[in-house]
Parts: sequence; structure tokens; C-alpha cells
Amino acid sequence: MRTVEQFDLVVIGGGPGGYAAAFYGASAGLIVALIEKDTIGGTCLNRGCIPAKAFLETAAVNRHVTHAADFGVNTSAPIVDFAVSQKRKQNIVNGLVKGLTGLTKSKKVTYLLGVGSLGANRTVTAKLADGTTRELQGKNIILATGSAPRTIPGFEVGGPIMTSDEVLMLNTIPSRIAVIGGGAIGCEFASTFVDLGSTVTILEGLPKILPGLDEDVANVVVKSFKKKKIDIKTSAKVTGHELNKNGGTTVLFGEGERLEVDAVIVSVGRKPFADQLGLTGTAVKVSERGFVETDLFCLTAEPGVYAVGDLINTPQLAHVAYAEAIVAIKHMRGEKVYPVMYDRVPWAIYCHPEVAWSGPSEEQARAAGFDVVVAKHQFRSNSRAMILGEIDGLVKVIAKKNSDGTAGQVLGVHMVGPWVTEQLSGGYLAVNWEATVEEIAEFIQPHPSLSELFGETVLSLTGRSINA
Ligand code: NAI
Repeated sequence: MRTVEQFDLVVIGGGPGGYAAAFYGASAGLIVALIEKDTIGGTCLNRGCIPAKAFLETAAVNRHVTHAADFGVNTSAPIVDFAVSQKRKQNIVNGLVKGLTGLTKSKKVTYLLGVGSLGANRTVTAKLADGTTRELQGKNIILATGSAPRTIPGFEVGGPIMTSDEVLMLNTIPSRIAVIGGGAIGCEFASTFVDLGSTVTILEGLPKILPGLDEDVANVVVKSFKKKKIDIKTSAKVTGHELNKNGGTTVLFGEGERLEVDAVIVSVGRKPFADQLGLTGTAVKVSERGFVETDLFCLTAEPGVYAVGDLINTPQLAHVAYAEAIVAIKHMRGEKVYPVMYDRVPWAIYCHPEVAWSGPSEEQARAAGFDVVVAKHQFRSNSRAMILGEIDGLVKVIAKKNSDGTAGQVLGVHMVGPWVTEQLSGGYLAVNWEATVEEIAEFIQPHPSLSELFGETVLSLTGRSINA
């Protein structure tokens, strides 16, 4: 006889959206099953954020050693053994996978290795890696199957043509690289490999790289990238490539332009991955672009079925997936819950220099009809930045203009420079607390610190400043 196992919650997909839902749900007392077809942690941990940042750190070490003499530390020129970097990255990933696996046990989540697909009546068929099949019914379901890299016609993965999936498994550093797409992923890889000694060209289809960024911030990145000798080609239409005998390829773009490289990194966005989800017999709607459609509480058109993370059309960020998982769990439990405010989530790009922001850029704030007051302060005048030898960058705060012309509520905080991904939290809180400039100016920042620059920028918006 067919047995259908009963759970409060069945989660399909074990990436940040899925495991956060499973663990937060279990912490809230739900009996949970989590089905993952590959490795817990999903793209972010296994093929995305974590490995990419591990390589960025290898690049940073190489950069620091190269410039050690500036600090009076004489060394010989560094030699990168990328196989060791790969192994180090994998150890970090394995350690985190082990941690998450341990949490499935300590939180008593039924963890199944296999492919889950949803049918009618919130019933999930799990085809397990060991060849068996189990049927699970959940009072609620969360779909969290994530996304996969997009490719472009003529650039199918293989040989020198890679997406982030392949790049993150490299054991050697390609010496000449074309990065197609100058978004977050493209800029992180361009920065990594140029700092590891590769020759890097970015081919971006639009007139500028990092198209959504505040212009002042994007300009700093472009200037820094050019200083590193990254060749940035914008409005570049890539038409194809011709494989070379040496294992590399020649990328064809623009009006007959050719670029010979050893590797091509295609980073033109990611597409939602709903391929094996089933959904027959459910009212779950999937858009033309492949996103599962939900309301603001991540609920699909099928009662009791939620979807979170890259599978839905919201910012493709691990921490947004975490936030959506919490919203979904609270909502299914009938608790008081607020939707994620997508226009104010924290963003972080870990290229060198780093970029981080929350809230609208100056252009976006003005386009939304706000009268704004803006202040910008440069890291070159910050003592800690000088100590680090990392003076490129700025903090920009955008505030609503009061009727008397003074700066009021903080709308956006945009940062570029050393460790700004670690400095954003103050700005994020200010934006999301809907705090005013006067309120934030009351807070003290440690001295000397990079975060002083945010304090200083806000202080100057009160009409008085110390260091400017
Ligand atoms: P993206 O959408 O951010 O950028 C893709 C870029 O490729 C765009 O600038 C676009 O104009 C360009 N492009 C598209 N087709 C092209 C073509 N045929 N030729 C040349 N250029 C072309 O996508 P990306 O960088 O692949 O990242 C995927 C997702 O992952 C994004 O949502 C991103 O926000 C997220 N992500 C976030 C990170 C972070 O916050 N640190 C790091 C990595 C990814």
C-alpha cells in the first residue's frame, strides 16, 4: 500500500531559501522535510557566493603581498598556486555543508537527497538518489529550487566557455579572459582574475557596467578597474566565437572586432530553475520568464504553497531568500508579518573596490519624485583607509529635503571602497528605520574606523561637519 508521510512543512530545494525555511520552520515548532537533489547549501554555498568570495580573498592576499613593500615589508614576488586556492575554497564549502547537515539533525528536519516534484493536494513525490521514491504531504509547501546561469546562443558551456559553475571549479588561472556581462558576477570575476595576474576584458552589452548602480559609485568602480588594467568594452554586442587549436577561443563582437582569450566567462544573469518541480494538478503559476508567481507573502495561487528565493522574481540574493523564507513561515503560521521591502534590501558586490547599498540611488530617488539633499565623502580623507592603503571610494547619503531645505529622512546609503560590504549595516538600518539625518547624526562611530565616513557624511547633512 502507498504510504504518504505527513509533515507540517515540506520544502523542495536546499539552498539559502530552502534551508532557511526548513530551519526557521523547525525552530518555530514545525515538523519539516527538506528535499535537495544535490548538496545542501545550494548555489550560494556550493557554486556561488561563498566560493566566489573565497577566490576574491585569494586575489586580495596576492594584491597585499604584491604591495607589501609599501608597508616596509620586503618579500619576493608572490606566486599563486591556484590548486591550493581551489582546495582551500572547497574546504570552506565542505565545512559549511557539514554545519548545515548537522543542523538538519539537531533541528530534527527529515533531510532527503533526491528530486522533489509537487502534485495535487500539497503532495510531493521525492525520487531519491538511492533509487527509491517517497510520497510526502505537507500542510504547507515551500518551493525553493533556485536558479541556474543563463547562457547566450553560440556560447554553450564546454572547453574555454564557462559560467560561474565551471569557473569556481578551476585549478589553474586562465591567462587571458573575456567576461561577457558586466553585472555583479562579471565584475567579481573580472576583479578576482585581474588581481591574480590575468589579462581581463569585460564585454558589456549596455552603455555601462553595473547598470543599476548609483552613478558616483559606478564611476569609482570603473576608474579602479581601469587602474587595474581591466579593459572595459561597453555597448559591445557579442556575435560568436571561434575555437583555437590551443584550447582557447576568439570572441567576435562589435563591428568585426576579435579578442583572443583562453577562457570566456559568461555572466549575463541567472534564470529561475523550475524544470523538475512538476506542479501538475496545482494552481501554481509560472511566468513566461520561468518565475513562480507569488503575492507579497510569497504565497502562490495554490493554497498552502509558497515559493521563495531565485525561483521568484525578486532580487537574486541569498539574504533576500532568507528573508522571504521567514515571511513565508510566519505567514503560514498566521503570525503578524510584513512583506520584504525589496526596494530597501542590502546589496553587496565584493569586487575590489567593494560596493554596498540600500535604498534608491540619487537618480532613482529623483525619478521617484523626491526632492533630495545629497552628501558624499571620500575614503581618501579617512584615517583608517589611509592606514590600510585603500583610499579609493566614497560614501554617499541621499536624504529627503524638508520644506525648509534641510535634510530629513535618509532614503539611500551607497558605498564603494574598502570593506564597505561590512560597513553597510548602519546605513541599512537608517534607511529601513526611516530615520532622519538628525537622528543618525547622534550616533558615535569608533575612531579610527572606516565606518566613521558614514557618520561624517550624515553629520555634514545636518549642515555642520567636523572633517569636511
Ligand atoms: P546581472 O543581471 O547582474 O548582470 C548581467 C549583465 O550582463 C548586465 O549588465 C547585462 O547588461 C549584461 N548582458 C546581458 N546579456 C549580454 C550579452 N549578450 N552581451 C553582453 N552583456 C550582456 O547578472 P549576473 O552578474 O550574472 O548576476 C546574476 C544574479 O546574481 C544577479 O541578480 C545578481 O544581483 C546576483 N548576484 C549578486 C551578487 C552579489 O550581490 N554580490 C554576486 C553575484 C550575483
